Amino acid sequence: MAEPDPKALIEAARAAARNAYAPYSNFAVGAAVLLSDGSMVTGANFENASYGLSLCAETVALATASAQGRLRDVVAIGVIGGLMEDGVARGTAPVGPCGRCRQVINEAAQLGGRDIPVYCGSAEGDEIASYRLSELLPHAFGPADLGLA
Ligand code: THU
Repeated sequence: MAEPDPKALIEAARAAARNAYAPYSNFAVGAAVLLSDGSMVTGANFENASYGLSLCAETVALATASAQGRLRDVVAIGVIGGLMEDGVARGTAPVGPCGRCRQVINEAAQLGGRDIPVYCGSAEGDEIASYRLSELLPHAFGPADLGLA
């Protein structure tokens, strides 16, 4: 089982954020998901002219893991975000997953039987806030309630 390296996940999330498509909010987000074999899948936010259709970075990364048949193998996730200046994400305040993304992370967490660590970082700062998903989404509803985990 791969042991999460928060710094490595945050660095991968920063790299992913460079591909954010966020012309409406100008807020770039990157996410990196660690799989049990030590590999990572990443995602960036993907906005849309119909604003409400925008996809968050965490959701994009987890959908990619799912498309690879690896949703049960998610071990940890790192997230960064920041307002862009001249197309580059800036800032030192750690960013956490939105409510919808917490629910999406929970799908992987319950399927894999893990209380997934969530590392929240920033575009430029050293601080990494570490949480367990159960802290960010207590009493979660998920696949276990439907007999699927
Ligand atoms: N965003 C994410 O990608 N993940 C989150 O958890 C919070 C918000 C994106 C959505 C939108 O593209 C931009 O950040 C501003 O809300």
